[in-house]
Amino acid sequence: MKVDKLKLRIFKSRLMQRVFGQPVNIRASWEETPKDYRDMVEFLDWFDRTDAIESTVERGRVDWQHRFAPSQAYSALSKGTVLEIGFGGGRLLMHAARDFERAIGIDIHSNFAMTERFLERQGVSNYQLYHRNDFAKIPENSVDFVYSFIVFQHFDGMAEVDYYLTHIKRVLRQNGIAQIYYGKNQEEGVALTNATDFRLRDCSLFISPITMRQLISDRFDLLEYSDRLPRDPLSNSGESVQAMVLFRNRSA
Ligand SMILES: C[S@@+](CC[C@H](N)C(=O)[O-])C[C@H]1O[C@@H](n2cnc3c(N)ncnc32)[C@H](O)[C@@H]1O
Repeated sequence: MKVDKLKLRIFKSRLMQRVFGQPVNIRASWEETPKDYRDMVEFLDWFDRTDAIESTVERGRVDWQHRFAPSQAYSALSKGTVLEIGFGGGRLLMHAARDFERAIGIDIHSNFAMTERFLERQGVSNYQLYHRNDFAKIPENSVDFVYSFIVFQHFDGMAEVDYYLTHIKRVLRQNGIAQIYYGKNQEEGVALTNATDFRLRDCSLFISPITMRQLISDRFDLLEYSDRLPRDPLSNSGESVQAMVLFRNRSA
């Protein structure tokens, strides 16, 4: 019943597009859709399909432990401050907050109150949430680990990638690292879904791994990358639509 509301919203949006050819503003859809959710499962379901809070917590644990924590660079890190770009409901941030002294989340959505409720319910209190436009409030040279998962693929253009890379460079500590998952373009270069073809929650930005690696190497030291990742990290099966880059600020 609760999950049906989300399906109804998506159905209505698609109907408006098909019948009236109405374009969807990609960024606004991420900003505004979560604002009305009051039911926790419905809220969490918007960001990552779920039918129970426990499943979200478990999926968050699996993604955190298998997609971020295993790298050698991660184990060598000082565990002071961690920063997530696009925290959504908070399913990854809750696990990150347990590994680090302090966790910071950045997002554009309009229902931080529900994320706070979720985190507090999980016993997490060492966190701060910031709107994307307030990134400049996070001091330079203050973050040990920046990460992002299933977020860059939802951007509405490369200017947003540039915005985040600029801030990552600014906030990363000298020995800090960043690990970013992004939507993979199978062709060369970058592909962006236009507003008329965009369907609610779909991926919109696809970057070829060569292009992404070049972008990173222009500004950072690229430490690791992976162009082929399993969809299911537990069974190591399937192929994810995402690729990954892990990097740090260029050593002086
Ligand atoms: C599919 S959800 C993933 C949430 C979370 N990373 C997870 O794994 O559960 C995508 C998230 O990206 C956020 N997002 C979309 N565009 C963004 C932008 N330009 N800046 C920051 N966050 C953005 C959305 O609000 C949403 O929280």
